Parts: sequence; C-alpha cells; structure tokens
Amino acid sequence: MAIERTLSIIKPDGLEKGIIGKIIDRFESNGLKPVAMRMQQLSQKEAEGFYAVHKERPFFKDLVAFMTSGPVLLMVLEGENAILKNREIMGATNPEKAAPGTIRKDFATNVEKNTVHGSDSPENAKIEIAYFFRETEIVKYDWTGRK
Ligand code: CMP
Repeated sequence: MAIERTLSIIKPDGLEKGIIGKIIDRFESNGLKPVAMRMQQLSQKEAEGFYAVHKERPFFKDLVAFMTSGPVLLMVLEGENAILKNREIMGATNPEKAAPGTIRKDFATNVEKNTVHGSDSPENAKIEIAYFFRETEIVKYDWTGRK
C-alpha cells in the first residue's frame, strides 16, 4: 500500500466546540500523521476558490459563509492509503448517515456544520494540498520500517 497525502480541514464548528485534540487523536490513532498544520481565518475569496467545484450548488453561498465564519485548522495528513482512510475516519458528509464511531457521527451538527473536510481522490488531494501549502511547509516523515 502506498503512502499518500490528503488535505484535512477542521471546520469552524470543530474549533468552536474545542475538539481539535479529539479529532487529531483519531487521525494519529489510525496511522495518519499530520505533516503540515496551520490555523487560518479563510477569506471569502479563499473559501470560494477552494470550493469552486460546488459553485453552482444551491448550498454554495451558505457553505462559503460558514467556512469564513471563524478560523479553521488546515492540515496535511500522511499515511498508508491516507485519502480513503481519512474519509472512513470522517464518516459520511451528512452526519445523520455517518457510521457509528466516525468523527461526523460523534461531533458534527448537520451537513453544513460537519466538522471536517477531507480530499476525496488522489487528484483532488494534490490540488487541495497545493491550494494551502507550499512543499517547504510540509515536513518529511521517514516511513521506513514504521507504521
Ligand atoms: P465538504 O467535504 O467540506 O465538501 C463540500 C461541503 O458542502 C460538504 O463537506 C458539506 O459541509 C457542505 N454542504 C452543505 N450542504 C450540503 C448538501 N446539501 N449536500 C452536500 N454537501 C453540503
């Protein structure tokens, strides 16, 4: 299995609820290493650009308003099969449909305030990581002989 990188965002509701530590614990306990992290207040432009693929969706305006309503924690997670693994740990987009024991099932309020974002494919992971991080801001973790 290849070591992958994925972009993770703890959304404003996650910071508001004070559960950053609990969320990162789930990633680390499941073999995902944070290799870059930054707290940031997204501007409207940054949020619109990040979610540009959704710009025709009816929820786009509210999504951008929510994502700019408070600071977020941007992270690059690295690990075996990181993209899919992160999505399993997060659970379904709508917390009502999320499996027990997932972040969204346990912490999310609704489909908008759903606590975390994670890249959904290798192509999007590359694009999303590059949207927020320069390669020099990502630490090099030596996976040789480690899990
Ligand atoms: P995220 O994984 O960050 O990607 C797009 C976001 O749009 C999604 O999580 C949801 O938080 C948000 N969103 C808001 N309303 C909806 C909706 N009706 N269907 C899907 N996503 C929605």
